[in-house]
Amino acid sequence: MRRAVTFRDAAAADLPVMEALLIAAELSVEGVRAHFADFVVAVQGHEVVGVAGLERYGLHGLLRSVAVRTDHQGRGIGQALARAMIERATVAGLETLALLTTTAADFFPKLGFRPVTRDALPAALQASSQLRGMCSASATVMHLTLRHGRPE
Ligand SMILES: CC(C)(COP(=O)(O)OP(=O)(O)OC[C@H]1O[C@@H](n2cnc3c(N)ncnc32)[C@H](O)[C@@H]1OP(=O)(O)O)[C@@H](O)C(=O)NCCC(=O)NCCS
Repeated sequence: MRRAVTFRDAAAADLPVMEALLIAAELSVEGVRAHFADFVVAVQGHEVVGVAGLERYGLHGLLRSVAVRTDHQGRGIGQALARAMIERATVAGLETLALLTTTAADFFPKLGFRPVTRDALPAALQASSQLRGMCSASATVMHLTLRHGRPE
């Protein structure tokens, strides 16, 4: 039986493994260090098997770097990481979360994200290297309004 997977804030010593995981998943490592305080990792034993991060721009956030090691995919780790970031953003008082993806547009609707056009995103997010770096033609842009216990 596989050992349990736990989730915790990323620590400095995790950085090389996190970056290797992102590179293997063909995701950008630009901006990881700048937003490191909002990165979480999934850990099994002493091994980092997944990562996810949040960039904050005022009341708006960008969910990024959701990646799970290929030999651990399909076990709910990706969803748990994304939910952890949604929870973190909600607790922090953010109002919206956005993301860009070229490979997992069908993964995020399960978490409430809906596709939008890039120009529908809050202007504050334009500061992110994720938006500047990803080719607009191929990336799906998605958006989630965070709920703070009040009716929609
Ligand atoms: C996307 C990713 C993080 C999912 O991680 P995971 O741990 O395998 O996901 P989960 O086990 O939590 O999957 C939950 C569900 O999503 C589905 N799913 C997984 N990867 C998917 C993908 N790339 N596209 C669409 N659906 C996907 C699973 O089939 C599962 O569906 P189910 O609940 O109906 O059975 C992982 O495939 C990955 O690291 N991909 C490469 C990096 C990437 O594309 N990241 C997203 C951009 S930030």
